[in-house]
Amino acid sequence: MAQEGIRLYYKNVTSGIIGDEHGITPGEFDALAEKTGPLIKQLNADRETGKTPYRDLPHRTDIAKRVKALVAELKNGCENFVVLGIGGSALGNIALQTALNPYMHNIDPNQRPGPRLFVFDNIDPVQLASFLDWVGDKLDKTIFNVISKSGRTAEIASQLLIIRKVLLDTLGGEGFKNQIVATTDPRRGALRKIAEDAGLRCLEVPDGVGGRFSILSAVGLLSAAMCGIDIDLLLEGARDMDKKVSCEDFHTNPAAINAAINYHYYNHGKRISVMMPYSFALKDLADWYRQLWAESLGKANDLSGAEVHIGPTPVKALGATDQHSQVQLYREGPNDKLFTFLQVDNFDRELTIGPAPECAPELEYLAGADLSKLLKNEKTATEFALLQNQRPCLSILFDRVNAHTVGQFIYLYEVTTSLAGALFGINTYDQPAVELGKDATLALMGGAGCEELARQIKPFTVLDKSFLV
Ligand code: PA5
Repeated sequence: MAQEGIRLYYKNVTSGIIGDEHGITPGEFDALAEKTGPLIKQLNADRETGKTPYRDLPHRTDIAKRVKALVAELKNGCENFVVLGIGGSALGNIALQTALNPYMHNIDPNQRPGPRLFVFDNIDPVQLASFLDWVGDKLDKTIFNVISKSGRTAEIASQLLIIRKVLLDTLGGEGFKNQIVATTDPRRGALRKIAEDAGLRCLEVPDGVGGRFSILSAVGLLSAAMCGIDIDLLLEGARDMDKKVSCEDFHTNPAAINAAINYHYYNHGKRISVMMPYSFALKDLADWYRQLWAESLGKANDLSGAEVHIGPTPVKALGATDQHSQVQLYREGPNDKLFTFLQVDNFDRELTIGPAPECAPELEYLAGADLSKLLKNEKTATEFALLQNQRPCLSILFDRVNAHTVGQFIYLYEVTTSLAGALFGINTYDQPAVELGKDATLALMGGAGCEELARQIKPFTVLDKSFLV
């Protein structure tokens, strides 16, 4: 039987559907193909010379093997698995869990094959304190996976130091050693030093793989495998997509077409990119995409150093929920957005809508229908409404949501991002603005070596009361 998959549907961005002013004409499409074709080749060459190691993650059987061995070691007696991370060290974990485990996973033991999963990607004391109150007598049944490539990110380091103290106070040095797994740079950084000093179990963020491209490394795989997700199938899906997105024929390469369409619309005044899944399971993949797109493509300078301040703004929405929140704006507000719907053909569960009571015959049209039919029709209805107002719409069609199709989606969007970055002529893989934020936090917290930055920030730390109302 053929594997279930995903496909990109792009007819609804063409001039044939939404007209010449907002649609892509055949001539424009040809020009996009001509511009993008060589960039696919370039990307393939970059991969060969080791410039984009994330491309090889689906093929790294050694990582999956190491992760599975660790899962076998940790799983016994582990009731709670806690990820401490932020950005690329957390969004992938959340996305995989929402996509591939049941909604009630943490609540209902019958719906989970492994531990509960908690991902702390913030440093709100109210949130973490509530968790610590709950977990206090279960610490010996709780594994904390601290994930930080650099090892210097204040949010992650502070959480680690809190948990370390709690573990030392409650379970002693052995407890700290046993309950923590560190995922970090193979050689450098404070987390690596702490891990080596305490003899923690360790996994690696591979060299040259940035946080937002790390979901298919140990960063995303450990929590997924601990919680029963089939990581082999996930990687197989990504490998399958690798064949498609490495293809140097523009017309059959979904990442190339996707990137080219996004690039076209950015240059034609549609600088907002809305991703709208019609599936609750896919909602956090839209969040993962938002970071991938924003951090990779939002850049001040192009590769020649010229100031460009470029980057489409990614927005996440959820169908049908946001039909009642955002679609009024999407249809009637400025025509400055490209929409990407995520559509699922087959849902794993089905519910039939019950009969209408006699007093409400106007609801009879719903009676006996599948709930998934209603959801799919709502997607079609929203898309129709947008197309009527010449709003361009792409769709990613999922045969079904499973580890294979999610792996495909992840890889499709990673390579789409690389190609979009190449089209924009920017460095897709750095994040200087994020780093500046990290430095400024360090300076404000009194970190050594940041005295000059602290001096520059000082005026912003006091409120000018004449502007307070
Ligand atoms: O994608 C990125 O590079 C960032 O979002 C990082 O993942 C995030 O800032 C955390 O960094 P680190 O893993 O180095 O602590």
